[in-house]
Amino acid sequence: MKYDELLELLRYRRSIRVFKPDPIPDESIMKILDAAHYAMSGGNSQPWEFIVVKDAKIKEGIFNAYLANFELTYHLEQQRAPRYRHPAFNVPPEEKDKARQMVCGWKDAPVYIMVVEDGRKMFGSVLAARSDLNGESLSVFASSMGHVSMILHLAAAALGLGSQRVDVCTQESYRQILKYPEPSRLSFIVPVGYRAYQPGPPHRLPLKSLVHFDQYDTSKAIRDDNFLEYLDKIRALGRLGYEDETAARKKL
Ligand SMILES: Cc1cc2nc3c(=O)[nH]c(=O)nc-3n(C[C@H](O)[C@H](O)[C@H](O)COP(=O)(O)O)c2cc1C
Repeated sequence: MKYDELLELLRYRRSIRVFKPDPIPDESIMKILDAAHYAMSGGNSQPWEFIVVKDAKIKEGIFNAYLANFELTYHLEQQRAPRYRHPAFNVPPEEKDKARQMVCGWKDAPVYIMVVEDGRKMFGSVLAARSDLNGESLSVFASSMGHVSMILHLAAAALGLGSQRVDVCTQESYRQILKYPEPSRLSFIVPVGYRAYQPGPPHRLPLKSLVHFDQYDTSKAIRDDNFLEYLDKIRALGRLGYEDETAARKKL
């Protein structure tokens, strides 16, 4: 693969939050999982497993488990000043339905890939990295899960499909439905399906603000007293992402 093709794929992959309900071929799902299982991981510990869900009843249960946390998530996000709220939750209580619509678009995706993680598998990694000496253990584990996440999304995009990452903040209701044993946990959900809209290229910070040559260029450092400026910038980019999506949805 050429670099230009890779870049095109990276820019084509966006978080897709509305799907056509049409079924997708089983072969596409297996291709996505095949690509994902080549992800790198600490000590090659491969702490992931996948549950492919297509059954309408099980999907409904999963979606309801997710929805049960909507009120809490909305309430928590209201604790922040409006400009720092996650764009999907920055609406007044009387417009809460708008927020619900934004975070629930994935309901109709024909397949949910449920990614399950097992923290014990990190014992397959370097023990020093697993120690709590400097808090590294979590990051080796979480980073490994991050790699498999990225490949799932890239593979879906390479097949012309859409995908989204849905994070969960509870376990029990998902565990009851999906039956994964302790101490495995549901790490995140990836709904996959045909894209109901096509957003533009991703919004990112300028590369030059992130790159240093030979030594750290301290003129680019974020000081404690200007950190809120950074937060403003990030939220503005986040809002742009949701504006793209809202505009694209309106054209449906
Ligand atoms: C660790 C992680 C967690 C995320 N959790 C969610 C989520 O729960 N819901 C969601 O809609 N998007 C989630 N996202 C997607 C990000 O919001 C998205 O990647 C970011 O805004 C950039 O937009 P893009 O993916 O369209 O390029 C998550 C992404 C990552 C890497």
